[in-house]
Amino acid sequence: MKKYFKTLLNIERDSQFSTRVIILSIPSAVLFIMLAIFDLLSPWYAFTCYVITIIFNMFSLLPISYELQALRRYIYALANNEQRDINFSEKDTMEIAEAINSVHKMWTSKTDTLEAQAMSDAAVFDTLPDPILMLDGEGNITGSNLAARQLLGSDIVSRSIDKVFTTNIFISSVEKILKNKSLSENLVFQAPQYNNRRLYTHITKLPASSKGRAVAVISLYDISKAFSLEKMQSDFVANASHELRTPLSVISGFIETLQTTARDDEDARDAFLGIMKEQAEYMSSLIEDLLSLSRLEMAQDKELKDKVDIHEVLDDVTNALKIKAFQHSVNIKIDELTRIPKITADNQQIHQILQNLLDNAIKYATENSEVTIELKTVSAIPARPGQNVAQGKAVSIAINNKGQKINKEDLARLTEKFYRMQIHKDMKIKGTGLGLAIAKQIILHHRGNLTVTSTTYKGNTFTVYLPIKQK
Ligand SMILES: Nc1ncnc2c1ncn2[C@@H]1O[C@H](COP(=O)(O)OP(=O)(O)OP(=O)(O)O)[C@@H](O)[C@H]1O
Ligand SMILES: [Mg+2]
Repeated sequence: MKKYFKTLLNIERDSQFSTRVIILSIPSAVLFIMLAIFDLLSPWYAFTCYVITIIFNMFSLLPISYELQALRRYIYALANNEQRDINFSEKDTMEIAEAINSVHKMWTSKTDTLEAQAMSDAAVFDTLPDPILMLDGEGNITGSNLAARQLLGSDIVSRSIDKVFTTNIFISSVEKILKNKSLSENLVFQAPQYNNRRLYTHITKLPASSKGRAVAVISLYDISKAFSLEKMQSDFVANASHELRTPLSVISGFIETLQTTARDDEDARDAFLGIMKEQAEYMSSLIEDLLSLSRLEMAQDKELKDKVDIHEVLDDVTNALKIKAFQHSVNIKIDELTRIPKITADNQQIHQILQNLLDNAIKYATENSEVTIELKTVSAIPARPGQNVAQGKAVSIAINNKGQKINKEDLARLTEKFYRMQIHKDMKIKGTGLGLAIAKQIILHHRGNLTVTSTTYKGNTFTVYLPIKQK
């Protein structure tokens, strides 16, 4: 019956129309039944009047039902962000629709403002260079900035902090904060699962007035670089003082002997003075290298503006090392594979690189062998990812000598300050272990690169790449 009504009158299926008609007609039904019972109206008239009442109710409810349906469709359309005109025949419905529309507009603009605010907060948060994490009361990560996601992985949000870091001192500090035993904690800890990084962390409890899910904020500062720099510096001081103390103790030992037991021994005096001179020379070359290194470290910003002719530099350097090459029975040969242009660099520093590398090639070459220097231009400087080398054309200077093959472990450490291969120490070949460190420092300053290869058959090749232009 209901269904029939609705279909007939074009009313939506789930509308309450027929229920409303029936409910509205109950009092008239009761009235007509009573009139019929008390014989005030014949049952046939009572029934006819009742049907007329129902039809009357139906037609008076019909426009209201239509309006309510239209209003409902209008509200659904608003909720789905569809644009609809406000078009109702009843004034009341029109006013309700307008009121709903203005509430909707207000909420939309509020939501837009909040969304824009949240996005700008997240963008600001992401520009911070240090990782930041937010935690809820259970220790789950509720938010992170870009630096945190780069360090700890893009999926850290909603993970528990004790799964992200497992270091006990850190976890117990976080617990202290979450259990309200402390308001802020600072500590340094090592993170084995993140390349053993050394992290300084500041954990803070958020004030009760902040009503979000986050109750604590963790900021992390990666101090691994500063730590290793500090260690390198203290190692450097230890090495430098050790290297200086050894010749100094030799010299003072001989002075003491000359003052006492060997006072009148002329032969011993000559021999001792020779050794003392050698040790003093070693000390002075060590001090010269140390000064040179510190000057280079200080002059990182020095502008590179000389037009350097590598041929001229090589002429100077080979001339200076001619006697040394002769003493070692080593022949130096220069091959220019492709014509190389002048480069923009620091003239004196390029002298220093080539002087150190050629000095090594002569010093560590097998006797009666040849040291070759191959020159060419290359289209780009070869570099490993992360190495900051200049883009564009470069010159390549490859210095090769025959000699003991350098093993992998030594190859990785040759440019460390004071590092010398055991075999050369055993062979009593003199050196401070600073020459390659100095060369490397200069090459880095020029945004070039140094590669070393070593094979039993081809010998040892140290190749310097220097950009033709400094941009
Ligand atoms: N051409 C080479 N062939 C073989 N080994 C080399 C060569 N060049 C360097 N090495 C090894 O690398 C070490 C470091 O070289 P580096 O030039 O830094 O120091 P050094 O030659 O010992 O002393 P100096 O400070 O006087 O140059 C050397 O001690 C040597 O063991
Ligand atoms: Mg050297």
